[in-house]
Amino acid sequence: MRALVINCSPVRNGATAEIVRIVSEELRDRYEVKSVCIDDYHFSFCKGCRSCHSTARCIMSDDVDVLMNEFQNAGIIVSVSPSYWADIPGQFKAFIDRVTPWCNTHEPHRTLPSGKSGYTIALRTGPNMKECERIIGSIEHFYGHLEIECKGSLGLCSVEYKEAVKERESEIRSFCKQI
Ligand SMILES: Cc1cc2nc3c(=O)[nH]c(=O)nc-3n(C[C@H](O)[C@H](O)[C@H](O)COP(=O)(O)O)c2cc1C
Repeated sequence: MRALVINCSPVRNGATAEIVRIVSEELRDRYEVKSVCIDDYHFSFCKGCRSCHSTARCIMSDDVDVLMNEFQNAGIIVSVSPSYWADIPGQFKAFIDRVTPWCNTHEPHRTLPSGKSGYTIALRTGPNMKECERIIGSIEHFYGHLEIECKGSLGLCSVEYKEAVKERESEIRSFCKQI
């Protein structure tokens, strides 16, 4: 089975990227792992036109389809997101908005194959777990409307740069055991 591990941050060598590296390494024995960074993809913002509510298609064609193809092919999705102003980074939010053609609140909508499992890891510099929970909530809301089953989450506070991830490595590896 394929596992897709997403760096939801645009930073390719920061704390989020380091967690993606650890998770990918941990899953490699059990899954065919593909790790991606949201910044690998180039796409426009959703225009809010709602055409997709009646057509199940977006009026734009860009890398959203390329990343959704990775979702299509993976049985396991792991999203790793930092807090940017107490929420997911704008680049990842812009991607989620563009996934509206796949959202199950309107008919017709596009669908992913059933049986996918979704996991979320949130990290932040500040000390309060509530902010991690908000990020986990945003990503689990997204999973829910794609009918990806939310199977587990991990919040990591007091992490700013990748050096701080070293101290949390065993916590991250033990979270991966349930995947
Ligand atoms: C634009 C921006 C906004 C941020 N906002 C917050 C915040 O609201 N709360 C917080 O705890 N950390 C915040 N951070 C810190 C990141 O969550 C933290 O550095 C994270 O460990 C690593 O992110 P990275 O992988 O994108 O470098 C912010 C960082 C950036 C760049």
